[in-house]
Amino acid sequence: MSKFMEWVDARFPATKMWEDHLSKYYAPKNFNFFYFFGSLALLVLVNQIVTGVWLTMSYTPSAEEAFASVEYIMRDVEYGWILRYLHSTGASAFFVVVYLHMFRGLLYGSYQKPRELVWIFGMLIYLMLMAEAFMGYLLPWGQMSYWGAQVIISLFGAIPVIGADLTQWIRGDYLISGITLNRFFALHVVALPIVILGLVVLHILALHEVGSNNPDGVDIKKKKDENGIPLDGIAFHPYYTVKDIVGVVVFLFVFCFVIFFFPEMGGYFLEKPNFEAANPFKTPAHIAPVWYFTPFYAILRAIPDKLMGVIAMGAAIAVLFVLPWLDRSPVKSMRYKGWMSKIWLLVFCVSFVILGVLGVLSPTPGRTLLSQVCTFLYFAYFILMPFYTKLEKTKPVPERVTG
Ligand code: HEM
Repeated sequence: MSKFMEWVDARFPATKMWEDHLSKYYAPKNFNFFYFFGSLALLVLVNQIVTGVWLTMSYTPSAEEAFASVEYIMRDVEYGWILRYLHSTGASAFFVVVYLHMFRGLLYGSYQKPRELVWIFGMLIYLMLMAEAFMGYLLPWGQMSYWGAQVIISLFGAIPVIGADLTQWIRGDYLISGITLNRFFALHVVALPIVILGLVVLHILALHEVGSNNPDGVDIKKKKDENGIPLDGIAFHPYYTVKDIVGVVVFLFVFCFVIFFFPEMGGYFLEKPNFEAANPFKTPAHIAPVWYFTPFYAILRAIPDKLMGVIAMGAAIAVLFVLPWLDRSPVKSMRYKGWMSKIWLLVFCVSFVILGVLGVLSPTPGRTLLSQVCTFLYFAYFILMPFYTKLEKTKPVPERVTG
């Protein structure tokens, strides 16, 4: 075996990569619950790719056959039902995991210097993930697939001058048709997965270049032993590979529970109107996107003017990209930040959740007002950040991680 590895290493840096990224990658020893979600995101990514490839073997991307081919997968293809549920539940699981992963970033200031690029690559992944999920949702060609896509694509029509041409360009037709389905299929199964995989590699390379942050926000590279190993660092393999397996097992229990007992999650993971084939002549009474988009959908609806709504929705995502430059705190972790940062993070999270709930419900004057308040608070968290992070009194950060 070692002779074989010598042969390989003389031609390809296999051992070097193993050491750089696993056996000699020293991660802080104080990772907590929130540090499970990076490896879980990788697991769900692999699940989506593998089940996606198998679904593609039996799916037909045409307006005439798509809906029936999904039913065929569910009823006739051996284990087709589990493949589909692994993929549809996997999509929701992806966003659960990624939202918790992003929340960890906010909590421990993982986006701050020197991890700005880790965050930017993460945000690009998030953006591509949204595009991937949106396009995937059209493929079953159900009522919600069709009308959800109709609502979102028509938003581009609000852009002055080019709007009408742009929507036609996206659809490839005067209305959403088999042509739209075909291009969404190509992007969903080939183009976007490649982009996402590439971004994940860049994300991890950027992280391993600077090293992981931790719940204390202490730079472990400052205190090293005589061999140059951080005193508060432990080798990723075997310590964190074993720890991450615990996370994977717990995650798989929950994931399988949902797949076997609540695959539609009461209409939140697979919406009820989507069990009816797409009908361009029949608009469903209530159109709502899948839960992971609803906070942004609520922001869109909170603003009466369509164009301004679209701009606000875009800005709600765009502002996350510049987060590393909005936080001017001298400390990273929420443990040592002042009370203003803590309150604002809480306000932001609560507003995001309320917006998510409002995005599912049909609008009433009261709900619209609440969504306007939450939209305001969502943006205030970011806009005021340079001020409260600079003004507030922070606690002293310890020299070493606190265990
Ligand atoms: C497919 C999606 C993603 C995958 C597979 C992924 C994977 C990972 C992995 C394996 C780690 C190291 C382990 C950990 O710290 O948990 C990590 C760290 C990190 N990720 Fe992601 N990630 C994804 C999406 C995102 C997104 C959307 C963001 C934010 C916009 C993000 C921001 C970060 C940050 C800031 C770190 C460093 C955390 C720290 O050191 O404290 N990631 N990611």
